[in-house]
Amino acid sequence: MTRNLTRRASLAALGGVSALALPANHARAQAPRELRLGLITPPAHTWNQQLTAWGTRLRDASNGRFTVTLFPSGQLGNEAAMLQQMQTGALDLSLLTVSEISNRVDAFGALLAPFIAKDIDEAVRMLRHPIALGLLNGLPQATGCVGFRYGMVGMRQLSTRDVTNTLADLRGKKIRITPAAPTRDFFNLIGMAPTPLPLPQIFEALSNGQIDGVDLDFESIINNRFQELCRTMLLTNHFMFPAVGMMSARVFGTLTPPDRELIRGTMTEALDALCNSMPEREARQGAQLRASNMQIRPTGPEFFGDAVAQFDRMWGPKAPALAQLRAAFPRG
Ligand code: BEZ
Repeated sequence: MTRNLTRRASLAALGGVSALALPANHARAQAPRELRLGLITPPAHTWNQQLTAWGTRLRDASNGRFTVTLFPSGQLGNEAAMLQQMQTGALDLSLLTVSEISNRVDAFGALLAPFIAKDIDEAVRMLRHPIALGLLNGLPQATGCVGFRYGMVGMRQLSTRDVTNTLADLRGKKIRITPAAPTRDFFNLIGMAPTPLPLPQIFEALSNGQIDGVDLDFESIINNRFQELCRTMLLTNHFMFPAVGMMSARVFGTLTPPDRELIRGTMTEALDALCNSMPEREARQGAQLRASNMQIRPTGPEFFGDAVAQFDRMWGPKAPALAQLRAAFPRG
């Protein structure tokens, strides 16, 4: 309200007319539209920083017609709750993990398949491949949201409180996972006990031994100092971890076509920039972790026996993109 009056007054100043002389509907038409964007990550996270910068870019590119307010750290609820809010139009936008999306749309399980991308560079290329981009087309129908583009965090690694040398050392151990069916299935296949936990609850569970290990990227490990709680990191790159920049289809439908393209275009640029920055970040964060006391053991898919083949048999029929991606990005 205060912001509308201020803007009305400054418009009047520019036009040389009294603010009170402006018709009320003119003032309303000029008021900035606030877009609310919910995230599960905390303010210091790479995603939040990139999307804060996107908000500024959108405000400038729209000559102040749009502003973006971020709601970090799951303030609006977990991802399932945020998706529900976007479905009704109560929330405008989110960068939603593919983990949550795969709980609604099996086809996205392809992007969470073990060893689908060999490293972060390949993961960036894969998320821009037509096979991965094609999955976004199904989102409005399946989720009531428009999916603009993929963002990501780094590749996932398997870190354990105890020393891990062989697959037998992992059997029966509780591993924290992001709640997602494909992730759960892989860890079940290798004989671990997958334990879904949201990010903020991991530290306590790992400190007091409720869980034995974590499935996480370098940034999450470093931000939470898990390298001080884990003796071993199996440097597996076993999963990539994509997220999708999404907007409520209800809200999107209220925008003019040029504004839709403005939001889609600027969000795509921001998420592409995020993905472009990942290889350098991964190298820097990897060096930081190598300097810690945690033992880091490079580990390939062969360590996990036939679990990857079993996973493909389980998920291939539900996620046709899985076989397509394996064919388009063969392992040398
Ligand atoms: C996780 O649940 O592991 C996670 C979610 C968002 C960003 C990074 C990690």
